[in-house]
Amino acid sequence: MKTLNAYGDKIKSDWNHTMTLDLVKECNLIKKLKEKYPLTWRIGGLGNENTIIADEFHINSQLTTILSLIGKEFRNKTILDLGCGSNGDSFDNKISLKTRSFEPWLCRALYELNIKCMGIDCGDLDNEKFEHCGYFNLLGPDSLGFLQDSSVDVAHARLLYSSPQLEKLNRGNSKSLHEYLLPQLERIVKPEGFFVYTPNT
Ligand SMILES: C[S@@+](CC[C@H](N)C(=O)[O-])C[C@H]1O[C@@H](n2cnc3c(N)ncnc32)[C@H](O)[C@@H]1O
Repeated sequence: MKTLNAYGDKIKSDWNHTMTLDLVKECNLIKKLKEKYPLTWRIGGLGNENTIIADEFHINSQLTTILSLIGKEFRNKTILDLGCGSNGDSFDNKISLKTRSFEPWLCRALYELNIKCMGIDCGDLDNEKFEHCGYFNLLGPDSLGFLQDSSVDVAHARLLYSSPQLEKLNRGNSKSLHEYLLPQLERIVKPEGFFVYTPNT
């Protein structure tokens, strides 16, 4: 398994962002999501309102990260999204705003694109269509013990290590979540697969 910094390391690939935008258009992805989640949609950046809701740019850029790693045969691949986000409002401490941008948008998008994915989060995922484990704490040496060896092409963890929920859950623990996850992901992710994550900065 190769580990990559999601937004720092350059990913060598025959996939690019324009191809993501074409796929998103061809599959009517954003239109489908907008019908299912009739919220305020933005194309990027912060507005004046105190609520950031769904963000098209944010979904497309996460998709490009994943698709750059799995390439054109994406329909046969399996993605595991750790700390995928959960339902309902949450508070973003960095920008001091209420937000729904940390809902499981990547898993929702992959589901609509018929790309197999499993989302795991310690929050509520009850009404989600994609395969999921909600109310699930990833901290622990065997937290992913239920997943089979070499069953995942890309494990993804965006903004998990810097999350306020993790800080609370891991208080007093000498081991970091990364230390718990790495050996487990070595088993679960295919040898030619990837773990792509945003480090805690
Ligand atoms: C900042 S959000 C990021 C959500 C999504 N990955 C994104 O990029 O928008 C971090 C998520 O990690 C989840 N999380 C934090 N610690 C966790 C833990 N120990 N086990 C499972 N999920 C956890 C939180 O519930 C939250 O939904």
